[in-house]
Amino acid sequence: MMPPRNQDFGLKKAGGARSGSVINFRKTLNSGSLRRSSAVLPSVLTFAVIVASGGLLLMIEKGMLNSMETPPPRGYSKRSGYLRQARNLDPAVDAESQILQEIRNRTIRTMCGQKNMPHSVWSLSPLQRKTLLQHILVNDEHRFLYCYVPKVACSNWKRVLKVLSGALENVDVNIKMNHKSDLLFLSSLKPEEIRYRLKHYFKFMFVREPMERLLSAYRNKFGEIKAYQEKYGAEIIRRYRKGHAKDTAVAGDDVTFAEFVRYLLDEDVDRMNEHWMPIYNLCQPCAVSYDFIGSYEHLESDADYVLQRISAPPHVHFPERQTWYKPVTKETLHYYLCSLSQKLLRELLPKYILDFSLFTYPLPNTTTEYCRH
Ligand SMILES: *[C@@H]1O[C@H](CO)[C@@H](O)[C@H](O)[C@H]1NC(C)=O
Ligand SMILES: *[C@@H]1O[C@H](CO)[C@@H](O)[C@H](O)[C@H]1NC(C)=O
Repeated sequence: MMPPRNQDFGLKKAGGARSGSVINFRKTLNSGSLRRSSAVLPSVLTFAVIVASGGLLLMIEKGMLNSMETPPPRGYSKRSGYLRQARNLDPAVDAESQILQEIRNRTIRTMCGQKNMPHSVWSLSPLQRKTLLQHILVNDEHRFLYCYVPKVACSNWKRVLKVLSGALENVDVNIKMNHKSDLLFLSSLKPEEIRYRLKHYFKFMFVREPMERLLSAYRNKFGEIKAYQEKYGAEIIRRYRKGHAKDTAVAGDDVTFAEFVRYLLDEDVDRMNEHWMPIYNLCQPCAVSYDFIGSYEHLESDADYVLQRISAPPHVHFPERQTWYKPVTKETLHYYLCSLSQKLLRELLPKYILDFSLFTYPLPNTTTEYCRH
């Protein structure tokens, strides 16, 4: 069976069912961890409720709520200790990050447990499987698989992998990253080798707020990279800018965000360029049961945790942000999202709804009231 197409989930329909369902969802939160972290309670609860309303859109449509189980009481868990061992961590961040992990873990288990979701790499379509296997990097010595997502610190992880395999001296070596050389991709292995590694290795990936990732791809590729301007930019302008349909001299270096979004809406999520393909389609979190899903928003502590889990030698650390790194600020995101028409937004968000709901990111507030500020 094919996984549901993202476009199928209209955002408008579920509005009425929201408030009641949020209460259901809250019951499933582990009350123990909430009590433990009373200092962060308000923000986490608000967050959980917003997340729930985003994730629940999908669950309501799929009739999944009946299968939400209240978790058993938890004793000491392996995970709960990790952040405390990491250095200099704010206990509030610690608790909030753990609750996020638990919500995310449970959301993924519930949604991926549904019959119509893929349950193994072999039940994906050949194209989906090819994309997935080409995005999983292998390290046999430390026995782990890393599914890389462009625009989510993937160059830095590739550096770490190259240092671990001895191809690079240290993570801070000042060279331009080659994204293919000295890396082992799961797609280059035989089926039985793939099967063994998927079963026995530690598997992880990193996610990021979907619109922030999209904007980061847009600004980087269309603002800075000539090859993308020529390949995608020119095509987008010919397709979506009035009077340019037959213009062969288009440079493609001034694609607007709205034009980019219109292009995305006409693209099939399974065939998109990896920089804007939804994370779901790149890493297939239902077909692969990841042991850990880190967040870009907690990059440092989550990366520390992974390095510990894979027993990286002490000299291997996660690289610092590059000095040229331009973060996507709240204001920038607000500016670009609010520059879109309500009609485009209502179509764009469903295209990425599995990234919002599975990885528990609240849908952005794009009401006209909010955009007026
Ligand atoms: C989810 O929780 C289970 C059980 O605690 C654990 O084995 C698994 O690694 C977790 N998965 C993620 C993605 O955190
Ligand atoms: C969106 O923002 C507006 C204005 O700040 C606020 O009144 C409204 O409650 C927000 N909506 C949601 C769903 O957060």
